[in-house]
Order: sequence, then C-alpha cells, then structure tokens
Amino acid sequence: MAVLLKPVTGENYYACAALSTDESQKHMVPSAGFALSGFAPLHGMTPTAVYSGDTVVGLMMHGRDKRDGRYWLSAFLIDKKHQRRGYGKKALDLLIRGLKDKGVEALYLSCTPDNASAWRLYKSLGFVRTGERANSDFVAKLDLTSHTALVPVH
Ligand SMILES: CC(C)(COP(=O)(O)OP(=O)(O)OC[C@H]1O[C@@H](n2cnc3c(N)ncnc32)[C@H](O)[C@@H]1OP(=O)(O)O)[C@@H](O)C(=O)NCCC(=O)NCCS
Repeated sequence: MAVLLKPVTGENYYACAALSTDESQKHMVPSAGFALSGFAPLHGMTPTAVYSGDTVVGLMMHGRDKRDGRYWLSAFLIDKKHQRRGYGKKALDLLIRGLKDKGVEALYLSCTPDNASAWRLYKSLGFVRTGERANSDFVAKLDLTSHTALVPVH
C-alpha cells in the first residue's frame, strides 16, 4: 500500500488525535493529542498525517523552532496497530524529500537513549548524533544538502 503524507485538517483531525503507541513507548514521544493541541500551536510546528491508502496510520510534527532557528522533527509516531510494516521509514523519507525540495538544509530530532528501534530507523536514513542533549534525550541531525533518498517511491 502506498504511503502518503497529507496535512492535518478538520477531516482527519480526530483520526490523527486517536493515534496511539504501545504502553512501553509512551515516554518516548508526546501523545498525538498533545502534539496536535500543544506543540503545533505553541511552537508553530506543522502537523502532517501519514496515510497508508485511505487509513491514517501515523503523525509527524515538524517545523523551524523560533528559539534556535533550526528545523526539527518534534514528534513522530506510527500507531501501534500499524508499526513494523515499513510505514515509518517511508513516511520519514518522504518528509525529508519534501523538506529538501523546500530548501531546508538540515533536519534535527531528539530521541530517548532507550529508543533503539527509532534510532535504528533514523540511522538508516543518515542521521548522526550531534553530541548535544535535550533534557535526557540525545540530539541527532540529518544534513539534507548531501542526503540521497533511500526508499524507492511507490
Ligand atoms: C519509531 C516508529 C515511528 C517506527 O515506525 P515503524 O513504521 O514501526 O517503522 P518501520 O516499520 O518503517 O521500520 C523501519 C526500521 O526501524 C527499525 N525498527 C522499527 N521498529 C522496530 C522494532 N520494534 N524493533 C527493532 N527495530 C525496529 C528497524 O530498523 C526497521 O527496519 P527493518 O524493518 O528493515 O528492520 C514507531 O515504532 C513508533 O511510533 N514508535 C513509538 C513512538 C516513537 O518512538 N517515536 C520516535 C520518537 S524519537
């Protein structure tokens, strides 16, 4: 099934807000509801829905943080029912391509040290640790000026 990215609108808001992770993952990412109602308006982040066909399977929040001028992936989740099917990797690769086309030079994220699954995904797309910490998370960066997409388009 093709993976698509779409804006969050009145039509898909509730499907996005209802996305949920496994209990063991809840400390690794803000809930979808909080990301949509808190992060997006507060820090000017753009919410983007991840679709597999017609179904909303995940959510990404991204944008330039006014406080440091850097472009961040500030939340990223695939619903627990849809994980490990390749959606996360395809969605992030699509986001990266879009940002690159818009002239964004680098994408930053923070990750909890015990989130080995997410880090494996980020590393496979070329993210490297910067050595910075954001609270207890480590910060990683993808240089988009030298990035080549890894996932074939479907
Ligand atoms: C991290 C997350 C977004 C990945 O989404 P996903 O759709 O399940 O990931 P994919 O199926 O595209 O997997 C891509 C790669 O990630 C890694 N990965 C994903 N889930 C994994 C798991 N449970 N165990 C080990 N590796 C895993 C693997 O390297 C995988 O590649 P492979 O299948 O070739 O081994 C999803 O697990 C999630 O929402 N987790 C909870 C929230 C979270 O941690 N967000 C990130 C905050 S920094």
